[in-house]
Amino acid sequence: MDARPLLAKLTCPLIPVVVIDRLADAVPLAEALLQGGISALEITLRTPAGYDAIKAMKSAFPDAVIGAGTVCSDQAFDKAVGCGADFIVSPGATDELFGAAARHKVPFLPGAVTGSEVLKAIQHDYATLKFFPAEAAGGVSTLRALSGPFPELSFMPTGGITPDNVSTYLRLESVCVVGGSWLTPRELLIHKRWDELCQLAGDSVARVAEVSEEKST
Ligand code: 3PG
Repeated sequence: MDARPLLAKLTCPLIPVVVIDRLADAVPLAEALLQGGISALEITLRTPAGYDAIKAMKSAFPDAVIGAGTVCSDQAFDKAVGCGADFIVSPGATDELFGAAARHKVPFLPGAVTGSEVLKAIQHDYATLKFFPAEAAGGVSTLRALSGPFPELSFMPTGGITPDNVSTYLRLESVCVVGGSWLTPRELLIHKRWDELCQLAGDSVARVAEVSEEKST
């Protein structure tokens, strides 16, 4: 199902894209990010710990919105849903992923950057898409151009987003949330610097709060 209702409920428009190397980091990391004001996390399935990290976070923070990212096959989709993922994100979209999404009542963000990819997602009734890799695919100007023929679409840009350009993305009407790994630098994770991760999240949340306010008035 489309992710718009879920994303509209989030109190913060930032979604950290998280790579978990050690399962033991999952709960303290989620705690730090949630304390910093983040309301949804995307746990990538790029490492073997990804699935169990989702389970551990959901069990420690049942009310937090914990999604699975880098979901590239229908089996991975099924498994992530089985682990309790609240939403599913894919860097692209295939018939098998749309098929898996149709079997589950979990919000799905298919990846799309071209007109054809967008049209394919629309055919499957998706109006909220992951725009990846955002910066490499032309960033804000490509998103503006896509809004011409597709004014009803919402995007979650990820890929190359930094504290310096996040507000520019969020100011676009077509951008509902922004994702990225800048909120969880590996260096801080490796050294379990939870306070700094919490601070980084808090700083980013404060930085974008103004933009969200401007957009809602
Ligand atoms: C993703 O999967 O969305 C990206 O890898 C995140 O990109 P970033 O590391 O440039 O934030």
